[in-house]
Amino acid sequence: MELKNIILEKEGKIALVTINRPKALNALNSETLTELDYVIDEIEKDDEVLAVVLTGAGKSFVAGADISEMKDKNVIEGRKFGILGNKVFRRLENLEKPVIAALNGFTLGGGNELALSADIRLASTKAKFGQPEVSLGITPGFGGTQRLSRVIGVGAAKELIFTGKIINADEAYRLGLVNKVVEPEALLEEAKTLANTIANNAPIAVKLSKVAINKGLQTDIDTALSFESEVFGATFSTEDQKEGMNTFLNDKKYLTGNFKNK
Ligand code: CAA
Repeated sequence: MELKNIILEKEGKIALVTINRPKALNALNSETLTELDYVIDEIEKDDEVLAVVLTGAGKSFVAGADISEMKDKNVIEGRKFGILGNKVFRRLENLEKPVIAALNGFTLGGGNELALSADIRLASTKAKFGQPEVSLGITPGFGGTQRLSRVIGVGAAKELIFTGKIINADEAYRLGLVNKVVEPEALLEEAKTLANTIANNAPIAVKLSKVAINKGLQTDIDTALSFESEVFGATFSTEDQKEGMNTFLNDKKYLTGNFKNK
């Protein structure tokens, strides 16, 4: 597929995904969502990629779903658009590789929902966050009514969604929406360093940790802990576990960077 709105680059063990539709501050239209779906396919297939950094070109991460595209939609088309966004974001959330969102600017509406589908969020001091949908006469439609409350709690999520207010990066940090706030020029490097740190750990263990956390959040604690025991047990079938533990016991260091992903 020819990518018009997204840039996909590989840097060693990392895939760098840049939403690049500057004329609309990277707003997500159907075409961009379809491209993102394709990019997720490519990353999923690529065994060399062990972590993903997701960012936006220019002064915006993503300024929301595309209002021009949505303006004239009827109920059937609106629903279809919501389902497309939810499908793609859910795929990203369930991608068996960690995703770090580097939030460089406007992270609004569908943009905040995209960030919420990532595993870890880093923000530039210039980033702005919000779910302004009710100011446009719609509800959040790409997962915001569900993921925001899971990340920052029900009260804070309801306040953001009901008011549509825009908050700065420090407030987003205070709410637990982002893990860290850094200077704009340091953001991408910080995200890549974090991605590399993760990519240098045992890939199967990282993947299974993500699966266990995500699955566990959707079930009761007993089922979740039982699933954890299964994945914990499964790691003992990997070469990485044997080599990782032997290296630690023999050399008093971690195998970091030298796992075989087997
Ligand atoms: N959809 C389509 N186009 C958008 C857009 C969006 N979400 N956000 C910005 N743009 C376009 C603007 O229309 C403008 O285009 P033109 O140059 O052709 O006029 C261009 O991007 C630049 O934007 P501004 O001139 O407005 O830039 P600014 O710096 O003055 O303001 C902003 C930036 C505060 C982000 C402002 O653009 C804005 O408020 N955008 C809309 C944010 C929003 O409401 N997002 C939620 C969308 S609904 C949603 O996401 C639904 C869902 O949950 C699925």
